[in-house]
Amino acid sequence: MQWFLHAPKQPLTTSLLIVPVFQSDRAPKLPKECATVAPVLEMLWRRKELSGKQGEMMLLPTSLEHIHRLLLVGLGALKTLTDRDLQNALGAAFKTAGSKPINDCAVVVPSVRTNPGALASMLGIAAHRALYHFKKYKTEKKDATQSKQKKEPDHVITSITLVGVEARKQKIFQRELETVEILAPFLSAQRDWGNMPANECTPEFLASRAMDRAKSIKNLSVTVFDKEQIKKHGMGGLYGVSRGATEHPRFIILEYWGRAKQYKPFVFVGKGITFDSGGISIKPSEKMHEMKFDMLGAAAVINAMSAIASLKLPVNVVGLTPCTENVPSGEAYKPGDILRAMNGSTMEILNTDAEGRVILSDALSFAHSYAPSAVVDLATLTGAALVVLGHEGTPMVSNNDAVAAMVEKAGQRTNDRLWRLPLWQEFKEAVKSEIADVRNSTDGFGGGTITGAAFLEHFVRPLPWAHLDIAGTAWYTSPKPWMITGATDMGVQLLVEVAKQWKAVKKQETVNKKQ
Ligand code: BES
Ligand code: MN
Ligand code: ZN
Repeated sequence: MQWFLHAPKQPLTTSLLIVPVFQSDRAPKLPKECATVAPVLEMLWRRKELSGKQGEMMLLPTSLEHIHRLLLVGLGALKTLTDRDLQNALGAAFKTAGSKPINDCAVVVPSVRTNPGALASMLGIAAHRALYHFKKYKTEKKDATQSKQKKEPDHVITSITLVGVEARKQKIFQRELETVEILAPFLSAQRDWGNMPANECTPEFLASRAMDRAKSIKNLSVTVFDKEQIKKHGMGGLYGVSRGATEHPRFIILEYWGRAKQYKPFVFVGKGITFDSGGISIKPSEKMHEMKFDMLGAAAVINAMSAIASLKLPVNVVGLTPCTENVPSGEAYKPGDILRAMNGSTMEILNTDAEGRVILSDALSFAHSYAPSAVVDLATLTGAALVVLGHEGTPMVSNNDAVAAMVEKAGQRTNDRLWRLPLWQEFKEAVKSEIADVRNSTDGFGGGTITGAAFLEHFVRPLPWAHLDIAGTAWYTSPKPWMITGATDMGVQLLVEVAKQWKAVKKQETVNKKQ
């Protein structure tokens, strides 16, 4: 995306001008350079056709030479406007603009209290989110008659002009928009991989994408374990889940050392089930096709690591993503099986559909080898996450208040709503097994999102850790005004923001403290 900051003295020329409108008792004020459209707005206001209430959207053709269309978008009252609502309202406007046969648009930057850097970033990400399309698998019509005609114009918005950014804020806007442009390809890759079918987005596909990133991004290193190495490292959970699949599993390790290695890294862990049929405990067929998105935790880790390294953040971070399919076959793992994770703990499998926690057991065990200062995992772990918060927020479970607060703060910055659930002792008891160390299903106990987390906690403790169950927020089953159905970019920007909170703590220091 090309961004322009409009110089006030120049006349504004655009195919479409987005004008955010607050709900108030006065007609909206416009910057001087769009004075020509003011009479229309005043008239609509007087006639009470325009009120500025949240969700309002009005597209008007004009007869003006420089501004071809007007798109009025209601923001509600300034007093109650949250950053998230503002970002989504702008997104809704960009999505509408994107449906028109135009390649450029302009937007009047609303005067809100949000600091200019955050506002620029919200705007930029809203635009990329709204204008994303997934057309990879649409075959272009190439019949004889068409090829002779001129190629249909490409109706994609490639340039956006921001109107009304004060001179003293322009530098900050520019810098933030540059950051957005670095982030944007990783946000759309995230959605592409989630939307791609499982016959193409395989563990080996994710591994090769990660390797490509290591080639193109300085200081990002990637190591991939194949099936044999997974077995050799004692990753019995990942190996066990992968047994039924013909597609081979991969364990992907991404490292970025933006500081000296003596400083403890953060470890990010992501669930990478490229297709979750449930395995022998097979899922109902009705919505099974959606389970191609069960790798979005892993994708978020790969994409966030890529972004962090591209942004050259002065931090140390490691990404770990166990990747496999979960499908039934004569060789598949079975209910009743007992698997041994990398840390030696045994897991009784009561339901092969609770596979996410089983593969994560090895990644969390492996995390200990880095002596990290915090572990954050992202996983489309439980359907129960959708019961708790629907698609509207992400349940978080943590064993450490400081890490939980850090992740929450990052969520506030990225407008991701995170909601912490408790990890009471009873939940930890519930995952204990009669015949093994833990069991992967706690049928009838309830609180599925928390018992899932309690299982993970068994492997990550005593490390400070937060778990985000993105089952509801990584994938939308119906469109939002600001983005299409399917994979979202949940987690990518969030993990970048978490990484920004990394602090230099020497590995040695804590070792000494423990003694
Ligand atoms: N990937 C699913 C969780 C899921 C379900 C995400 C629906 C999004 C929508 C996970 O592997 C799973 O199947 N979890 C089970 C766990 C249960 C068997 C303990 C679930 O939530 O039903
Ligand atoms: Mn499952
Ligand atoms: Zn799953």
